[in-house]
Parts: sequence; structure tokens; C-alpha cells
Amino acid sequence: MRVKILGKKGSLTLEFAKLKDMQGEEKKEFANSLNMQKDAFNKAFESKVKELNALALDEKMKENAQHFSYFDENAQVGALHPVMATMDKIIEYFLALNFSIEKGPLIEDDFHNFEALNLPKSHPARDMQDTFYFDDKRLLRTHTSPVQIRTMLATKPPIRMITPGAVFRRDLDLTHTPMFHQVEGLVVEEGQKVNFANLKSILEEFLIFMFGDVRVRFRPSFFPFTEPSAEVDISCVFCKGQGCRVCKQTGWLEVLGCGVVDPNVFKFVGYENVSGYAFGLGVERFAMLLHEIPDLRSLFEGDLRLLEQFK
Ligand code: DAH
Repeated sequence: MRVKILGKKGSLTLEFAKLKDMQGEEKKEFANSLNMQKDAFNKAFESKVKELNALALDEKMKENAQHFSYFDENAQVGALHPVMATMDKIIEYFLALNFSIEKGPLIEDDFHNFEALNLPKSHPARDMQDTFYFDDKRLLRTHTSPVQIRTMLATKPPIRMITPGAVFRRDLDLTHTPMFHQVEGLVVEEGQKVNFANLKSILEEFLIFMFGDVRVRFRPSFFPFTEPSAEVDISCVFCKGQGCRVCKQTGWLEVLGCGVVDPNVFKFVGYENVSGYAFGLGVERFAMLLHEIPDLRSLFEGDLRLLEQFK
């Protein structure tokens, strides 16, 4: 089209040639009208080119979508991060038992992270958790337990919940990173329906689901938000309880904390005549034990060689 109209012998070019035989007003008017036609043609031409290019791209994309070989066969394929895969497995267990999944903010306040969990300002147990503070009131949550408080304040029993998520502490070595993940569990029933025996049985079943053929033991411990409290060990997954470097020759590995909800916690959320139990675990620790990962920090270095082992 362009050659036909604006080429050496194009129709408009030939018209322009007539100008040289014209004079004065006539020439001016004729030139004006030719220039307007030329502009109009150029505009139409450009927009048509755009339209055709878009059409061609569309066609090409349709064609490529039908040829899977278009994608580079050597492209690296991703895998679910072992921490998320472990998280999924934990969640799967509790979903099957009708637990709900609750979420809470990563930036917490002193009330939900400490105070309402029976950890008053000067309580020495606060030192167990090296906290990142923004100011007097706001902090990065040090555990998922504040979601217990938020859920209890927002709903009435019965409650059966887990709350998976990231937590933060000022810590960095072979087994600690400043950000890691926890899954917290909470069960609350009206009256005296639940007790330590229920907690013990559910956690035993859960740990066998996660780790297979292990022995489980409960050791008396202390948490401000539970009374009585326990720490739970499984027989060492590496040496089967014989004693090795990982279990420090004890044959046991600590995997979670738990207990019967302290009455003071229920007071803070205005619950009366209820009973409940709670537990909390570190997801990275579970992933390390499940996959024999020696250094926790390697989980956060973004080295693809680690992920490739989990395809
Ligand atoms: N919040 C505790 C921590 O981060 C873990 C924990 C222990 C949670 C016992 C619980 C519990 O709910 O009952 O160290």
C-alpha cells in the first residue's frame, strides 16, 4: 500500500509532481490538500501495522502454547521448600482432626505476646525469648502463642485450632535463625472436658504420624501459659535411641512444648469454667530431623542445590 501511494511512482507522489507546474494561490491550496492526505495515510498505515503485529504475536503465542518443547528442557524445576513441606504435613494431621487454622499478625503488642500469656513485665521467663522490639509496646512476635489469645478473645469455646507461622528471635547459630516457623495448637472446651491425658494421647499419635516408629516421652517442664507443662521427646531418629552425636548420647530428641492451659490465661480472655490444653513446636526442627539436615541456616541461604534434593 505504501509503495502504491508514496513510492517513486506512487499515486500521491505523482500528484506532488504536478506542483512544479503550478503557481501562487492554486499551488498553495493544492499542496495543502496533498499534505493532509499524506498525513491521513501515514496515520492509518501506522495503526494498521500495530494491529497486524499484535495479531501476529497472538498467533505465535497460540502456536507456542501447543508446542511444549518450546520450553527449555534444561530449565531448572523448583521443589517445595522442606520447611513448607513439613508444615503441610503437620497441618494435614490436624485438619483431619477438625482443627481450624488461625492466623495472627507478625508485628504483635506486649499484651498478646507476653502479658495475656501470663508473662508480666518483670517475669524472668521473658528472657527465654530474645525479643526484637520496635518500641515499648510493639515487637516482632517471638512465638505463635499470641494467636491463642486473639482467637479466644474473638470466639467462644469449643476451640480446636492450630496456628502455623513465622516467629522472630535475636538468635543465630547452628540451630537458631532470627526467623523461623512454629505451629501452635490450642483446644478449649466448656467445663472440665479436656485434660492432660487427652493432650498426651493426641501428641503421641501426632509424633508417630510425623516420624514413624518412634517412642515418645513427656518430661515435666515450665511454661508461664500452661500448668502443668511438659516438654516432649522422641527416641532419636538417627540412632534409634542407642545414643549418638545428634542426641548427645541420650537417645532422645526434644521436639515440642505443651501443657494444660494456665487458669490465668483464661482470666485474661474472660473465659470461665473451661478447660484446655496447648502445644507449640518449631517447624524447622521437625524438617531437620525428618531430612537429616545438619545446619539450620542452610534452609535460608537460597542455595538451589539444597532444594534440588527435595524434588
Ligand atoms: N510458645 C512456646 C515457645 O515458643 C512454645 C509452647 C510451649 C507453646 C508450650 C505452647 C505450650 O502452647 O503449651 O517456646
